Amino acid sequence: MRQNDDIERQIEAQDLTLPAPETEPDRQYYYTAKCRRYITERSKELGRPLTCFIQTFGCQMNARDSEKLLGILEEIGFVQGTDEKSDFVLYNTCTVRENANLKVYGRLGRLNGIKRKNPDMMIALCGCMMQEPEVVEKIRKSYRFVDIIFGTHNIFRLAELICRRIDEKKAVVDIWQGTDQIVEELPVERKYPFKSGVNIMFGCNNFCSYCIVPYVRGRERSRDPEDIIREIEALVSDGVVEVMLLGQNVNSYGKTLAEPVSFAELLRRVDKIEGLRRIRFMTSHPKDLSDELIAAMRDAKNVCHHLHLPLQSGSTRILKQMNRKYTKEQYLALVDRLRAAIPDIALTTDIIVGFPGETEEGFLETLDVVRKVRYDSAFTFIYSPRTGTPAAAMEDQVPADVVKDRFDRLLAEVQEIASEVILRDLGTVQPVLAEETDDHEDGWLTGRLDNNTVVHFPGDPSLIGTIVDVSLDEAKGFYFMGHRV
Ligand code: SAH
Ligand code: SF4
Ligand code: F3S
Repeated sequence: MRQNDDIERQIEAQDLTLPAPETEPDRQYYYTAKCRRYITERSKELGRPLTCFIQTFGCQMNARDSEKLLGILEEIGFVQGTDEKSDFVLYNTCTVRENANLKVYGRLGRLNGIKRKNPDMMIALCGCMMQEPEVVEKIRKSYRFVDIIFGTHNIFRLAELICRRIDEKKAVVDIWQGTDQIVEELPVERKYPFKSGVNIMFGCNNFCSYCIVPYVRGRERSRDPEDIIREIEALVSDGVVEVMLLGQNVNSYGKTLAEPVSFAELLRRVDKIEGLRRIRFMTSHPKDLSDELIAAMRDAKNVCHHLHLPLQSGSTRILKQMNRKYTKEQYLALVDRLRAAIPDIALTTDIIVGFPGETEEGFLETLDVVRKVRYDSAFTFIYSPRTGTPAAAMEDQVPADVVKDRFDRLLAEVQEIASEVILRDLGTVQPVLAEETDDHEDGWLTGRLDNNTVVHFPGDPSLIGTIVDVSLDEAKGFYFMGHRV
């Protein structure tokens, strides 16, 4: 990648006889050079390369952060390993629901045994869970073999933290409460050569009453539009045809910039980038979705006709308790406006079942919205109390068996509707971005339609990263089987 070549030159230019520079990103270039010296020496002694492995939990934000972390590790001199038997193992954690945490503890327990057999092994933890003081305390007490702990605000410092671990020979913990810094110009190792997430903003100011994200990701900060455009242009010249613009609430993008820019305006600018074929974005909060944005989506040539529009609940009373700032009727009216402007738009959503105080009646309101909107797909979650959020302290927590029953009914409804909605495209020929070889069928590929539906079709791996026309022959629940035409 061209950007990485520039960074490489900066790293090579570092003079390690001088103290580390104070300003970023130079400081990290310095530590990368220093770390590289350690890693190169050690791998010479061992007669093999040192390997690294990152396990990512959680959302697209974390996935993108992991690409940056891997970029740094590779600059330092690690080569990518395949599993937790690697020399540097990093878990990028999520804490949005309790079971996200449990998964991390489960896997961490098993790492200790592996580490005992490999004296070179370093274990690092980062991400949203680490922003919770009680988690860090528990790890320091019960998982003493962890070498490095850092949070969501300082991932760009990985090289520095590894150097500190090597120099100080003891565990390094570096958690920031927040930041107004956005450090650009660091290396990135993308998972897919042809598509990429692009952060347009960080943090969240919405404080939905059930959600821990604002506490662990900090206040909302938008990147400058010029930096975003420059990054996407560099990605396109490196072979990227699809970008996903990332933020917890992209619709409020740009409001806090010195020169405010709306998300719709950003989208129009990104749409003009030559060579880019598909633009997606996540996530849209219904309360901030403007008519300007609907018009921008309608008029753009490359913005996909897919919108992820989390509902959370169909009950106006529960929505108020959730601090979502819209009613059932406002949500439905918004969907009507979207469909009027963009008739073929695919809508997907997130729904929480069993929020405190949710009655059977309230739950039926959710089912009612699901039946009216007819989503292409929906992520359904059982409410999970998160320490420190207002909802966790609410009375009227719903009993587990009642929640489970509602969850099953909701899931059945969502799946049945999705399997009907998909038929809209059956028998048509559609452009498909070929994304990977099929897991199940040799000689087949898996790709996605503009509206995000998955398609399997016979094809050569050389097609991966290109957009091909595929006839959608057979619908199987939520995906298609097809063939190239
Ligand atoms: N910023 C995005 C979503 C972030 S979290 C948005 O506002 O839509 C992704 C999803 O996890 C949320 O949409 C919500 O449905 C779910 N979620 C968040 N906190 C939860 C909790 N405490 N219990 C269950 N689901 C939760
Ligand atoms: Fe959480 Fe609400 Fe922010 Fe989404 S908008 S991250 S649900 S607080
Ligand atoms: Fe999880 Fe953090 Fe994303 S809590 S959902 S990884 S922002």
